[in-house]
Parts: sequence; C-alpha cells; structure tokens
Amino acid sequence: MDKELSSIHYDQYLQLGKILEAQKMRSKEFKEPAHDEMLFIIVHQVYELWFKEIIYDLSSVMEMFSEGVVQEADIGIAISRLDRIVKIQKILVDQIDIIETITPLDFLDFRNYLLPASGFQSFQFRELEVSLGLKRENRISYTQCAYSGVFSEKEQAILNKLEEGDSMFDLVEKWLERTPFLQFENFDFIEEYKKAVKNMLTMEEEGIHKADYISEHEKNLRIKMLGETKTYFSSIFDIESHERKLAEGKLKLSYKATVSALLINLYRDEPLLRQPFMFLQKLIDMDELFTTWRNRHAQMVLRTLGQKIGTGGSSGYDYLKDTADKHRIFYDLHNISTLLIPRSALPELPEELKEKLNFSFSQKKK
Ligand code: HEM
Repeated sequence: MDKELSSIHYDQYLQLGKILEAQKMRSKEFKEPAHDEMLFIIVHQVYELWFKEIIYDLSSVMEMFSEGVVQEADIGIAISRLDRIVKIQKILVDQIDIIETITPLDFLDFRNYLLPASGFQSFQFRELEVSLGLKRENRISYTQCAYSGVFSEKEQAILNKLEEGDSMFDLVEKWLERTPFLQFENFDFIEEYKKAVKNMLTMEEEGIHKADYISEHEKNLRIKMLGETKTYFSSIFDIESHERKLAEGKLKLSYKATVSALLINLYRDEPLLRQPFMFLQKLIDMDELFTTWRNRHAQMVLRTLGQKIGTGGSSGYDYLKDTADKHRIFYDLHNISTLLIPRSALPELPEELKEKLNFSFSQKKK
C-alpha cells in the first residue's frame, strides 16, 4: 500500500455531495415546477449507474476472453459476472413500473423542457450495445445521420474504437471455434450427429406410417411436417448452406462455432462441458433480458406518448419496437434449440473421450 490508510466518512466515500446535487429540474428553473420531473431524472440517473456497473463487469469478462486461451477458473468468474449483469437487468426491466407512475398528462407538464434530449443520446447504452456486438450496418436508423452523430468527437472516437475491436459476440465466437473434441481420434462429432438425426427422423417417419389410429390424410400431413423439420437441420448438415445464410445475414455465428455450441448443449451433462454450457446460458439470458427491456420500454412509450414522435426525433413506439426485434446479438445461440435431439438419440461418446470430459479426480462407479 503506497498511501497511509485514513478513515473516511460515508458521505465522503460515496461522494453524495455530487450525486445528490445532480437533480436539476428544468421545469423549476423555468418557473413552472412539474412534480414528476424529479422522478424522471432520478430513474434515468439510476439507469446510467447500473449501465456503468454492467459495462464494468462485461469489460472484465471480455478481457478474460481476449487472451488466446480462456483459463478454466475464469469461466467460473465469467459466469458469476454475467449472472450479476442478468440480475441487474431484471431490476432495469422492473424500474419501468416506477417510471410508468408518471401518467401521460403529468409527463406533458415537463416534456417540452427536455427537447431535444432523449435516451437515444445515452452514450453508455451505445457503448454497451457495441461491446455486446451490435454492428453499425445492422442498426435500424431513423435519421439520415449515423447513430453516433449525437455524441462529441471524443465519444465518437471511443465508439469507433470499440466497433473496430472484438465485441463480446466475436470473442465468444472465437472461443467456441477453439473448442476441442469436435474431432477426437476416430470420433467426428458432426458426422455422428448427422447419423443420429437421420435415424431419429427415419424412426419418426416409420412411426407415422405404422400408426393405425390416424387417417392416411393425417399421415401425409405429418410426413410433410417432418420434411420441414429436416430443412431446419440443413444448415448444420451442410457448411455451404450455413455460409450462404451468413452472407444473407440470416445467421451470424460461424459454422464451426455453431457446431461447438451444439456439442456443448448436447453433452452438457459431461462435467467439463457443464461450465461452458452455463456460460452460453447466461449469454442467452442477457440477450433475452435486453430484448425484454426494449419491448417493455417500447410499451411504456406507447402508453405515454401514443403515436407522438420522440424528443430525439424518432417515430417513437414503432422505432423502438423494431429495435427489440432486430437488435438481438446472440440469436444463433437461442436457435441451437432447433438442432437439439433427445438424450436417448445422442451418439455414444468413445470411452477415452468421456474420460477426458470428466474431472481428473472423479471416482469411477464400482
Ligand atoms: C416517460 C419516460 C420515457 C419516454 C416517454 C421515453 C421515450 C423514448 C423514445 C420516444 C425514444 C426513441 C428515441 C427518440 O425519438 O427520442 C427513446 C429511446 C431511448 N430511451 Fe427512452 N423514454 C423514457 C424513459 C426512458 C428511461 C427511464 C430510460 C433509461 C435509461 C430510457 C432509455 C432510452 C434509450 C437507451 C433509448 C435509445 C433506444 C434505442 O435507440 O435503441 N428511456 N425513449
């Protein structure tokens, strides 16, 4: 310790002087005090503080994943940090209940004093989106200007640098691509998986033909539906089809990373894959909660503004609803569920591979 430790007062430690001085009601300044403006300011400030914590935790996880190899112990820490982010996000969603206590008419008492300020100008929110992996070209834009045009040059430079570097999505993709065990001696995971899927579908088809309790018409319908199921699997069976979907923007995760995520999901009960599985689950939770927040915020905006445009100049509800649909980052991880097959149909892993996927100190059953 370089400095001698001195005692500190609660107030001084938390710099409450600065924080509690920071609620300046514009309506009061303009001599038309609107009671609810205080809540409006405080809720936004609380959001920004939570954004700060989320960015802080997320950056630490990104740092762990930006080394060539992720240490086993770090995966556990990453899971705990993402879990914390998920818990904060739940609070962020719940806080909308508080802002909704400002009724549309009460909001109009001070709305004009905000112009043209808008959540659209939240730098930390953009930092978070970019860090997670939202690409400029995939953003829904409502003006001719770049989304970053509302920020200072210094802030724009920070966003540009973040956009140029690896996002959480990129780091997860690279980590998945490095997953061993896709090919283990003679065991080729994807080939074995293909066989298992084909067997499963053939058995289903035979089951439909054999069933004497359904009509021929019903049987034909079910066989047709089974054909559609087969097309779900096509991109994982055929790398070229996957590449095509990547080029069309229908998928984002590389073929190899998708296959790894599938392996982790299918064999999650093997001890060494348990933590990678939990990590992927946390990313899905995070993605889902951002979408939930976007939807919830859009609903709140509809209720507060109806079809009025936003203070930032967007179409308001329609724009926000679109972002909820289109600004997802880890969509492909959600979609792994399409490719899952029942445990009973899973290819048996070779004994040596099963051993490798076990903790080295595990005791064998007698
Ligand atoms: C009465 C409450 C609120 C209203 C009426 C409202 C309205 C809007 C509207 C209309 C937009 C679209 C941009 C624009 O044209 O201005 C927007 C964007 C945004 N708002 Fe709110 N908002 C409210 C509360 C909040 C709160 C509490 C937060 C928390 C930080 C927030 C964060 C954001 C963010 C981050 C965006 C940008 C979303 C994006 O571009 O994807 N808003 N808001």
